[in-house]
Amino acid sequence: MSDKLFSPAQLGPLTLRNRIIMAPMTRSRSLGNVPGPLVAEYYGQRASAGLIIAEGTAPAANGLGYARIPGLFNEEQAAGWKLVADAVHARDGRIFVQFMHTGRIGHDLNLPAGAEVVAPSAVAAAGQMWTDQQQMQPHPTPRALTTAEVKDLVQEFAKAAKLAVEAGLDGVELHAANGYLLEQFLNPHSNQRTDEYGGSAENRARFVLEVADAVVAAIGAGRTGLRLSPWGTFNDMGTYEGVNEFYEYLATELQRRNLVYLHLINPETPDAPAAVAETVPRLRRAFTNTLILSGDYNATRAEAELQSGRADLIGFGRPFISNPDLVERMKAGAELTQGDQATFYAPGPEGLHQGYTDYPALAEAQVS
Ligand SMILES: Cc1cc2nc3c(=O)[nH]c(=O)nc-3n(C[C@H](O)[C@H](O)[C@H](O)COP(=O)(O)O)c2cc1C
Repeated sequence: MSDKLFSPAQLGPLTLRNRIIMAPMTRSRSLGNVPGPLVAEYYGQRASAGLIIAEGTAPAANGLGYARIPGLFNEEQAAGWKLVADAVHARDGRIFVQFMHTGRIGHDLNLPAGAEVVAPSAVAAAGQMWTDQQQMQPHPTPRALTTAEVKDLVQEFAKAAKLAVEAGLDGVELHAANGYLLEQFLNPHSNQRTDEYGGSAENRARFVLEVADAVVAAIGAGRTGLRLSPWGTFNDMGTYEGVNEFYEYLATELQRRNLVYLHLINPETPDAPAAVAETVPRLRRAFTNTLILSGDYNATRAEAELQSGRADLIGFGRPFISNPDLVERMKAGAELTQGDQATFYAPGPEGLHQGYTDYPALAEAQVS
């Protein structure tokens, strides 16, 4: 059992030592939006993953909508990311960083001075979000980006991608899932623009594809992946007519650009509409480079997906929070430690490391 999961895979220029991917997870430990030595230690502890996709990281100041998330658009942030890349590479691991521009899922209180909450259209998301100063606050109404600003932002993604590779990271994942800026352009509820970036399916896809083009031009298609969450409703996205056709179009266009991988959040949940069953097979046919599937996997289910050919690599999120040696544990069939949700996005009373770098590896746990 579990032969394929632990077998090596080629991802563009990189050889991955197994098919276990650490899914991107915001952990909010980057004070001043700069990842420090503690963040490097955390990712270093998890370097036995075939590939780490580091947490959502803003490619521009307006994208820093959550408290304590990292950025990657200035020298200080790039130096922090170099610590992270070095810690993972010292253990022979591989690491991409995820570019997450939060768009309308942000708050003025979380943003640095001079930054603002922007989005495709001035449509607020329903719900609330955390701020360190005033706890939960309603999502604000964002300011709609002008057409010129949208074009500038495409270039900011490319600049940030260059910085990422210069810092030693192995590549970049573009976060076009879970209701953040890129998906805000894709979805007609959040994108009500009347310029070339809104309206038709082609127009709603345009920003994402222009960002993909610019990042590919900056760092190469072999270092550029992209994440999608078709049918996702997180962050007030909501579904609409023609979801499968739209995502199939996107996948086809991403394949034309030869992106190294497409990372899908598996939409097949128990309460999903019937058409959802067609989504992964359709996207798999349209996108023929590496496909990653994430969402509620364990070793058995992951192996079944690999054996059936539905995916090439499998992303694990929460299990990696509380099991730094998840790969070794799954290989040994050992029990997994459960994570403490209270410290997923916030440090514990003992400090930033609590619930972050203090989960022991199996060998350490047995000794203590
Ligand atoms: C604490 C936490 C933070 C997350 N942050 C991100 C993120 O920054 N970017 C992203 O694409 N997904 C994020 N996710 C979603 C995960 O990547 C993954 O899709 C999800 O946890 C489901 O996989 P799992 O069942 O293996 O945990 C986050 C999930 C958790 C639990």
